[in-house]
Amino acid sequence: MTIGILGGGQLGRMIALAGYTLGQRFVFLDPGAESTAGHVGQLRVGAYDDEERLSELARKSDVVTYEFENVPVGSARFLNELVDVYPPPRALEVSQDRLDEKTFFQSLGIPTAGFAAVATREELDAAVRTLGLPAVLKTRRFGYDGKGQWVLRTRDDVARAWEALGAASLVLEAFVPFDREMSILAVRNRTGETRFWPLVENQHKCGILRLSTPKSAAWTSELQASAEAYAARVLVELGYVGVLAIEFFVLGNKLVTNEMAPRVHNSGHWTIEGSETSQFENHVRAILGLPLGSTRMVGCSAMLNAIGKLPPLEQVLAIEGAHLHAYGKDSASGRKVGHLTVRAESMKELADKVATLLPWFDF
Ligand SMILES: Nc1ncnc2c1ncn2[C@@H]1O[C@H](COP(=O)(O)OP(=O)(O)O)[C@@H](O)[C@H]1O
Ligand SMILES: [Mg+2]
Repeated sequence: MTIGILGGGQLGRMIALAGYTLGQRFVFLDPGAESTAGHVGQLRVGAYDDEERLSELARKSDVVTYEFENVPVGSARFLNELVDVYPPPRALEVSQDRLDEKTFFQSLGIPTAGFAAVATREELDAAVRTLGLPAVLKTRRFGYDGKGQWVLRTRDDVARAWEALGAASLVLEAFVPFDREMSILAVRNRTGETRFWPLVENQHKCGILRLSTPKSAAWTSELQASAEAYAARVLVELGYVGVLAIEFFVLGNKLVTNEMAPRVHNSGHWTIEGSETSQFENHVRAILGLPLGSTRMVGCSAMLNAIGKLPPLEQVLAIEGAHLHAYGKDSASGRKVGHLTVRAESMKELADKVATLLPWFDF
């Protein structure tokens, strides 16, 4: 089969690398001629809303998926008339808009931070009065890696943030004084078979994910059960097929939902070595209607993101259990150019290895 992928970044590249072992072929559509997925599959260069290119992708593909959540929903719907598109375009639509997404979670009884739509300065002031400070002002659309958002602590912050973001449609969220952040990766196939990986603890710096640890010391079976229950509601409601990630704030033994991504996710990269079946392979299995693989963990693992530049290969690969994934991208400030997963037999050994690796990762 040929799998068409909208987006040619590292996520698409890793889906293809996993899918090749199952004998699949891949074709990508991305506006960038330098897209890294082009190193491992056929890359068609074109805008996501170019109907000629989309039709060509549909003709070449038995099934289409996406690795980038800002693909226009109209394009996904256009394609869906020609070929099966998974996850369903509705999942894309909901997750593209932070206000719709939170409203959707709320409609399913999934807890979120308090929030309010903000389109005018008056609405911002009213929302600040209702939700209080601190709060986080975010653009409804196109935010990623902490971009398009401001933490408001004082009245001055409110004015400054409004100057910076006021031109866009916004949402104000109550600030969640979380103990930590975690995410769940879930997968559902075309027959409704569903699996979950263990909750992953995520640490960010400057809004960018730096370190992910599945089943960290803070993991509890209650947190896992809540996360699975919330994710299952989303999967069923959307008739979802593929991998879904949901990010949470953790307060004690409670989860407050932050956002979701209708795709494979950076906090699931550890699954390549750390799980019986990776998120990438299970995504391919899911969209092809194949049985899903076990999501059981294999030992302990942690994932470090390489931001801006790769770590020195000789040194990091000398560490037993370290696996580097370089995306074939040029170095650039703030750019995700690779990641490293390190495996160990115990959490103590894992912590030691992570401590040795951290100095090479600007964290
Ligand atoms: N309401 C909030 N309260 C506290 N921290 C927040 C809130 N919203 C976002 N953050 C912090 O900012 C990070 C990025 O925000 P997020 O909404 O996940 O946007 P992005 O799309 O950039 O990942 C979160 O992982 C969290 O650390
Ligand atoms: Mg996020």
